[in-house]
Amino acid sequence: MCGIVGYIGDKQAYDILIHGLHRLEYRGYDSAGVAIEHETGELNVYKSKGKVTELESSVEGKDTGGTLGIAHTRWATHGEPNDVNAHPHVSEDRTLALVHNGTIENYGVLKTALMQHGYHFSSETDTEVLVQLISYVKHTNRCSLFDAVREALRQVEGAYAIAVVEKGNPDMLVVARKSSPLVIGIGDGETFVASDATPIVGYTDKVVYLKDNEIAVIRRDAPLEVHSIDSIQHPVPDIQTLKLSVEQLEKGGYDTFMLKEIFSQPGTLRDCIRGRITNDCKRVVLSGVIENRDRFINANRIVIVACGTSWHAALIGKRVIQEMCRISVEVEYASEFRYGCPYITDRDVVIAISQSGETADTLAAIQLAKSKGAFVYGICNVVGASIPRDTDSGTYIHVGPEIGVASTKAFTGQVTVLTLLALCAGQIRKTIDTETVESIARALTELPQTIKEVLTLADTIKELSRIYTYARNFLYLGRGYNYPTALEGALKLKEISYVHAEGYPAAEMKHGPIALIDSEMPTVIIAPNDSLYDKIISNVQQVKSRGGSVIAIVSKGDRSMEQIADHCLEIPEVPECLTPIVAAVPLQLLAYYIAINKGKDVDRPRNLAKSVTVE
Ligand code: G6P
Repeated sequence: MCGIVGYIGDKQAYDILIHGLHRLEYRGYDSAGVAIEHETGELNVYKSKGKVTELESSVEGKDTGGTLGIAHTRWATHGEPNDVNAHPHVSEDRTLALVHNGTIENYGVLKTALMQHGYHFSSETDTEVLVQLISYVKHTNRCSLFDAVREALRQVEGAYAIAVVEKGNPDMLVVARKSSPLVIGIGDGETFVASDATPIVGYTDKVVYLKDNEIAVIRRDAPLEVHSIDSIQHPVPDIQTLKLSVEQLEKGGYDTFMLKEIFSQPGTLRDCIRGRITNDCKRVVLSGVIENRDRFINANRIVIVACGTSWHAALIGKRVIQEMCRISVEVEYASEFRYGCPYITDRDVVIAISQSGETADTLAAIQLAKSKGAFVYGICNVVGASIPRDTDSGTYIHVGPEIGVASTKAFTGQVTVLTLLALCAGQIRKTIDTETVESIARALTELPQTIKEVLTLADTIKELSRIYTYARNFLYLGRGYNYPTALEGALKLKEISYVHAEGYPAAEMKHGPIALIDSEMPTVIIAPNDSLYDKIISNVQQVKSRGGSVIAIVSKGDRSMEQIADHCLEIPEVPECLTPIVAAVPLQLLAYYIAINKGKDVDRPRNLAKSVTVE
């Protein structure tokens, strides 16, 4: 949540900062702002409620000159989204400006103490407390900006990635991080700072991922200096090469990022599988599993932690791992894990799934699992993010940057990696035969083609979406492997069209939701030709006999469902464990077109953020 950007160099900062904010808007878009050090020595701060384009309009005609600046796009936590609560926040004497991603947990205590020292506050944010605290330390200790930031951070509890500039100090930018991500891009005579690498791509490919409890001083004409916040250590910056291209971050001819991402799935799944299945399809090779084979052989059980869409992927992972590895698998919301008195031992394998690799609750769950001695395995998309760095081993899903806030290609990538993991660990544990591996592995290699075929349904789904655009409630039903698919389909619709939708195990419907069914409430049923097909047919009949309309996702050639459901969307037949990947695509398209028909901003749905870095 919240994105921060900073720049120091020989170019005008404003354009670079605004460009960076657009790239980071997926992290929040409640308000945006910039602070730029002007050649005259002024520190100009402009901020505005709403999206980055609203900031740009409000700044038109104003002086945005200067080659040092910081900027922010906000997802509100403390204080409603308005101009005053927008970042950057400035100290009372207006000499310091600061942008922040995270939460200052002890801000109440600090604020009271600062008020006792005569400080006044204009916003309701925790961030204003931090900038005032830095100002207080600086005046009291008569120290440099760097020393003041470091000392203030020692008094702060919580999570932060921050960037600070000082009026009249045009050659210095100070940044620091604890629990929230921060990347520094090192260019030729210029340095960039951002919450992730996307604002930096195209300017430089040399990056340093700041680590927890590190603070960096970025001077105009000097090498990057990294220090520890808590100790006198002086870590040597680890400069890495970025493997992201500008094309990956643009819409590439599509109207929205979400549509581009839905349509990119044949390619992203190819990238996800590449090098992980042998040519004869007899073996699955996930290095993270093979290198830690004893952990998987000796595991008592597997616990998967995740949030949101990643949690839905985890539920499918549970089913496939249990089937292939004959081991008990539990799935926990990462946000509940810590508070559920978890019983974790050093014989457990804990798998953390996260697209962003920065979700605060998932990170906290990982720390807890590690403290109990569990082996922690990460499944992540963003290369170099906190989760892959904090876990013992893991696998990247390699689906490329996902920018639309509603997750699509990451979900299918996560389920694919979980299937690969189940097959690989099953082989190591000798709980799966070669024929099974071969048939599923072959179907995995064919997935890009299979998904291409599914995408040809787009026009049909677009037409269908018109019939249901104004339905106010939807029910999504599935069984077995596809109960989580139903949850994911319902979540997609909720997220981007703001229509209420509930995902349910199909057979459970009769224990409650059936009371809701009438001609106004459409039901989406995921009913591929699998082991539970006959059972789900009777669930469909129960809906139909109560006047509900049914959209069914069925296997190609299904003629029985055609007789009962109002609409059938046919998907190619695949092994049962892969049906969630194939069935997810029409559900993504259905949610997409309904949201578009309603005129919604699908890439930036209200109140949501892609990366949830607060608890
Ligand atoms: C947010 C996003 C979801 C995502 C969830 C977990 O709610 O909007 O799309 O599934 O966070 O994020 P993660 O990055 O950990 O997968």
